[in-house]
Amino acid sequence: MMGVRMNPEDIFRLVDKHNGRHGCIVSILEDIQAEYNFLPRRALRIVASRTGRSLVDIYALATFYRSFSLKPKGRHMVSVCMGTACHVRRSPDVLDGFEQHLGIGAGETTRDREFSLSTVNCLGACALGPVTVIDGEYYRNVRSGDVGRILEHACRDENILKMTEDEQVFSVNVSCPHCNRSLMDHEHRLDDYPMVRVTVSFRRKHGWVRLSSLYGDYRIESEYEITPGAVVQFFCPSCHAELRSGRLCTTCDAPMIILFVRGGGTVQFCSRRGCKEHMLDLVDEEDMRS
Ligand code: FES
Repeated sequence: MMGVRMNPEDIFRLVDKHNGRHGCIVSILEDIQAEYNFLPRRALRIVASRTGRSLVDIYALATFYRSFSLKPKGRHMVSVCMGTACHVRRSPDVLDGFEQHLGIGAGETTRDREFSLSTVNCLGACALGPVTVIDGEYYRNVRSGDVGRILEHACRDENILKMTEDEQVFSVNVSCPHCNRSLMDHEHRLDDYPMVRVTVSFRRKHGWVRLSSLYGDYRIESEYEITPGAVVQFFCPSCHAELRSGRLCTTCDAPMIILFVRGGGTVQFCSRRGCKEHMLDLVDEEDMRS
């Protein structure tokens, strides 16, 4: 692995840029991750001393959010789905193809730090398997023979096996990031997919809310009407922990809500009714085990 050049002055600058803002440590770590594609340990020590927080606290945040990595990552992230449906449609051959082309195994990064290769579990788009995700773009029906062309085009931001708009609607199976219990409500379905059930609190009202589990779909059912624009607190119905992520919405500054995705990773969405900010972060199965 090539060494990573890190200028402490750059870290000072990032820390000072966020100082004093609510949830600033997560924002600082996000900026460092964006700059280096991972969180260098030396940078974490600087963040701790510059903010007066303990190194243990900083590590707790850095390891809690699955979108952060303590290992160097490549400029392009390739994730091959190894869930059952993709597996029976020969995703191991696809993984093999990527390993051979890149000269690395799953969980590794190329020496030039251009590509990181990982495996994930079911992403909910099983009918389109084998599925591969590169830099957040979904590739459908991937064959091992497609791998060279896919990589070549991905470097130019072109997806040659793009999903159609209809196909991009897939269900996300989520659980509580605190107790890990499933939040899927199989008795209540929307478009034939189980909904996500949470409890909420807003303007002194408490009740249940069911969210569509389709990624990017904002339909909800709720015990009480939620006024557009209201910022809502979300809780796990099992352990009652608040599902706030620590990040603020980049569109409206309201707290973001975080849920674990069963296949590996997290989904986050804005807590303000009507705001459409959301993001899906996938993680390597190996990282989840470590
Ligand atoms: S098994 Fe790959 S998307 Fe479901």
